[in-house]
Amino acid sequence: MRFATKVIHAGQEPDPVTGAIMPPIYMTSTFVQEAPGEAKGYEYTRASNPNFTILEKMLAPLEGAEYATVFSSGLGALTAMITTLSQGDSVVAVDGLYGGTYRLFNSVFNRFGIKFISVDTESLDKLDEILKEHKPKWLFFETPTNPLLSIFDIEALAKIAKHHGVTSIVDNTFASPYCQNPLKLGVDIVWHSTTKYIGGHSDVIGGVVMTNDSSMKQKLDFARKAIGVNPSPFDAWLVTRGVKTLAVRMEQHQRNAMTIAHFLEKHTHVKKVYYPGLESHPNHDIAKKQMRGYSGMVSAEFNLSLDATKKLISSFKIFALAESLGGVESLVSHPATMTHASIPREERIKMGLNDGLVRFSVGIEDVADLLADIEQALKNNAK
Ligand SMILES: Cc1ncc(COP(=O)(O)O)c(C=O)c1O
Repeated sequence: MRFATKVIHAGQEPDPVTGAIMPPIYMTSTFVQEAPGEAKGYEYTRASNPNFTILEKMLAPLEGAEYATVFSSGLGALTAMITTLSQGDSVVAVDGLYGGTYRLFNSVFNRFGIKFISVDTESLDKLDEILKEHKPKWLFFETPTNPLLSIFDIEALAKIAKHHGVTSIVDNTFASPYCQNPLKLGVDIVWHSTTKYIGGHSDVIGGVVMTNDSSMKQKLDFARKAIGVNPSPFDAWLVTRGVKTLAVRMEQHQRNAMTIAHFLEKHTHVKKVYYPGLESHPNHDIAKKQMRGYSGMVSAEFNLSLDATKKLISSFKIFALAESLGGVESLVSHPATMTHASIPREERIKMGLNDGLVRFSVGIEDVADLLADIEQALKNNAK
């Protein structure tokens, strides 16, 4: 089956009792047993629920994975993964991870003796030595990164990790399984915030971890039950409904994003555009090799002061000023005052997150309306 067929049919059967083409929502906390210890596959929704199984069977093939486990949120999924580590273990992570991922490692699990080692892009050449020195359990990375859309060579990083017996883990949220499948490039574990492209409608929070390792699948199922990071059956159902349109949504997201990236690249008030689909992107060749498309996230640095940039992004009429990404509607955000506001200014600027940097989550509206919105905002604010 090809991707657009898989999102609709993979792992999906009509309801065996009624023939309903969409699964019922099993809004139940518990399941009646025929005799003590004799359940019909489910006992308690914190551990599992038919809506979780249906969604897992649907998501795993999209990444070419054998197994998936769904969670209450992306960070719930990460929490479950981290609980498979032990005190004294370390994790090497390539810079550019989602801020909440840093926070979970550096403000929560550091107190439980999990060491988190950040590696900047300049040190990537030395990754071999770093893994040899620290002997981490995991090599952890994202590509494209947030908000600068940096691209890393998935196959190369997975190979180095494998050489050192280190588990490689990729957060594939920005690309979605439509644009990129890291497991097929040698990575061991892929996870997503299903809140974003997979759910696709900004109406649900969820997460998923996918792997071909059956012992990891068992550990993740155990973690969901033991720590209680299960989604609600309704939330799992919403993701099941949302993912069916992933292929058509991603096509439109990336077509719109490419048009907007080209438009911004030519604009006098734009210093730099970050989009892996542009030939000017420093790792466009790697993106082209490992991605089926370039997804819908575009960042641009405007030639504007902090105040002027804030005014600019407050004056959009279609792009909504909000955090998050991957929904059908276009969003705009300002890393300096929103997602990355907690980083001291000097440090932030060293990371390339300047005052004029704006991030667009390009939705699936008519691109002519999106361009007109950007034009009117620039006309009124960039003088
Ligand atoms: C790349 C990435 N990974 C993980 C997460 C966390 O996901 P959630 O908000 O579903 O916990 C986010 C949320 O913004 C994200 O952008």
